[in-house]
This record gives sequence, structure tokens and C-alpha cells, in this order.
Amino acid sequence: MDKIEIVGGVSLCGEISISGAKNAALPVMAASILGPGENIISNIPRLRDISTMGKLLAHLGMGYHQENGEAILQSEHISSIEAPYDFVKTMRASVLVLGPLLARMGEAKVSLPGGCAIGARPINLHIMGLKKMGAEITLCDGYIHAKAGKLKGATIYFDIPTVTGTENLMMAASIAEGVTVLENAACEPEIIDLANALISMGAEIQGAGTGIVKIKGVNNLRPLNYRIIPDRIETGTFLTAAAITGGNVEITNCDPSLAEAFINKLGETGTVITHGPDKISVKGPEQLKAEDIKTMPYPGFPTDMQAQFMALMTVAEGTSLITENIFENRFMHVAELRRMGADIRVEGSTATVKGVKSLKGAPVMATDLRASASLVIAGLAASGTTTIDRVYHIDRGYQNIEEKLKPLGAKIRRVT
Ligand code: EPZ
Repeated sequence: MDKIEIVGGVSLCGEISISGAKNAALPVMAASILGPGENIISNIPRLRDISTMGKLLAHLGMGYHQENGEAILQSEHISSIEAPYDFVKTMRASVLVLGPLLARMGEAKVSLPGGCAIGARPINLHIMGLKKMGAEITLCDGYIHAKAGKLKGATIYFDIPTVTGTENLMMAASIAEGVTVLENAACEPEIIDLANALISMGAEIQGAGTGIVKIKGVNNLRPLNYRIIPDRIETGTFLTAAAITGGNVEITNCDPSLAEAFINKLGETGTVITHGPDKISVKGPEQLKAEDIKTMPYPGFPTDMQAQFMALMTVAEGTSLITENIFENRFMHVAELRRMGADIRVEGSTATVKGVKSLKGAPVMATDLRASASLVIAGLAASGTTTIDRVYHIDRGYQNIEEKLKPLGAKIRRVT
């Protein structure tokens, strides 16, 4: 099992380039099920989750390979309608094949994802929507078994704005009969990216990125040739690493407009941020100021940046209140940050972080993708050595994070 070892205390300086967005690439890969033929996705990040999705699509009978930053997906023939537990348990986003498979094949058998470290994460809203579109759904042996003739357009109201729920139903509706309206839909930029990919295939979609999305079903879609947006969470993660080390970093190949809430909040801590259309310059302050955050659906402060911001607040001047409103158990990083000397108290969905002078390196354990990113950030700022175990969590969402940080002066290495 790989570990990452960091000797902290270096101010990061230099330039770092952002990869394509994991949470846009995953639904767009699933959308290729709807476009029989050769689908090409560019700016695809090289991540464990992406290769897991590729293996799952190959299991369904599709051709899949990556070359020169592109994913090539041959979806002429689908020979299986089953997404087995082995894939779904390693990556919940496997559930994104449910909508497109059911729409194209009239049947889909997808393992229930089960819970994960950050919460129960049910998919009841995905199932509710597909039932409204005429699917018959039974649950047995831990699998969702969905059957439908031609799906019918329907008006679907989400009790909670669910990202992958909105994506699954947008894909299913794109070749259903009639009009589907998604109400209280999630508005994340990755949803707009998926809608743009589907529109490039011939889908008729309006309102993606707002709470009301209208999809007029068409008979069939052509293969896609689409470029994924930059990863706004990777962008936020490296902005935070520069801020906590008092560094001076240029972040390129990014889209600042996708991370406005985070950038504004980071600016309130005294971090100096300027940006153009596809780059951000960030300068960490002598002394960070504590700021409160509450995670909210987009365009609010993203839950996927909560752990990273908490690491930053552990060495800020003052006290920061961090409230997690999206997931019920997304404070797994607190115990690990405490091992490094952080002063954090959790009560219900709020963590109270009292800034300390500095953190001390220690052996810590990654528990989920973004918690592991917060431990890297803390390790970069801590005095002494931090060793992070279970590094496979990091590799799910960050393309060779140590190779991206080394050129900025970080003393970081992977220990196999
Ligand atoms: C997506 O997960 C992201 N994953 C997550 O990123 C992200 O944290 C999350 O959205 C919130 O922004 C991908 O896009 C692949 P939700 P998703 O459905 O779609 C509840 C990362 O770090 N809910 O928007 O699974 C749910 O329990 C990952 O890259 C239901 O109750 O999240 C949660 O409390 C982690 N029933 C809330 O809604 C449902 O049917 C939001 O979940 C669906 C969701």
C-alpha cells in the first residue's frame, strides 16, 4: 500500500496546471452509451475513478482506451446490462450507467452502491425519477433491476438537489418520448458540461445549471466528441496549498468562474488572489485570518472543498465555524488533523476550529478522497514529516498529486 511522505514548511512557488474535471468526465463517459459509435472525450484526467468507469463500460461490451489525454469509447455494441457490485463498491459514480443503459437497452441491473465514508448516500431520488418515466424497478440481492419499454417524459421534483440524480435523469430523458422537466435540479458546472456534451450528440436540453431543466426526447443521439471542463475542486485544493504555505503560485488551465464561492471565501482569509479567464495567481498571507463556512449546493461553498478549507483554518488567527450541510459524516479528517496538533471540536454538523501557531507532522490516514487532500495541505504547512497512509483515496481524484507539487518546491514523495 503506497504512502505519501511530506516534509513541511516550504512556501510553494511556481506554476501548476489543472486537469479535466473528474465529476464532469464520469457522467460524460456514461453518456457515450447513448451515442452508438466512436466517442472521443478530450482533457480527460488520468485518475483511478476514470479507469474504474472505463473498465465498467468495457464490462458492458464497449471498447475503451485512453491515449494522449483522450478517452476513446466504442459504444456500437452493448453486450451486458449489468453493473456488478465489484465496480459500484469501489466507485459510487458507477450508478451513472443506470439512466443511459435503461434508456438505450430497455433494461439495466445496477448494484446498489451501499454507503461510503462520508454518509449513507442513498439513490432513492434516481429511482423515483426513473419510475416516473415508466420504469419498473425491483430491488433484489443488493441490485436495482430496472425495466422499461420506451421511457416517457415526466415532471420530476427532487426533494434534494442531487448531482448524479440530475445527471442520470437528464441522460435517460434525452432519448425518452416527450418532454421531461427536472425541478429543484442540481446546478453544478459539471451538470452544464454533461448537458453540453449531450446537446453536441443531438439532445434538446434547456436550463442546465438552473433549478429547472427541460429535456425534449429525441429518437437517437450520435457519438460525442467533447472536451471536459477544468476541475474546480483540484483548482481549489491547490489554491489552498499555496495559501497555507504563504506561497506564490500561478494556476493555469483552469476556469476561475467555476469556483467563485471558494475564491471569494479564500480572499477573506487575507490570501491575495487575482485571475484572468484561464489562470489564477495566488499569494499566501503572512498570517491567515479565520473565516466561517457553510457548505451548500452550487453556487454555494462546495462540500468537496470543506476538508481542504478546514486544514487551512487550523493555522489561521482566530476561530472558524465550519458547517457541513450536504453529507452527514464528512468530518473524518478531523481526527487526523488533531493528530497533527489541530484544535478542532465537532458538535453535530459544525466543527469549531481554533487556529494554532503551527501543525506538527505525524503519521496520518486518508479516509476519503477530499479528506486525504486536506491531509496533504496540512502536511505541506506542518513542521517535520507527515506520512499519509491509504493513498489510493488521493489517486481517485488527483492526477499524480506529488508530481504536480514537487516543481513548486514541495518536499513530497510517494513511498511504495
Ligand atoms: C456528487 O455526488 C459528487 N460526485 C460528489 O463528489 C459531491 O460531493 C456531491 O455530488 C455533492 O456536491 C460525483 O459527481 C461523481 P448528491 P452525489 O446526490 O451525486 C442526498 C468527490 O469528492 N441524496 O448531490 O452522490 C445525499 O445523501 C465526490 O468528488 C439523497 O438523499 O451527491 C446527499 O446528502 C464526493 N437521495 C445529498 O443528497 C438521492 O437519491 C447530495 O448528494 C441522492 C442524493
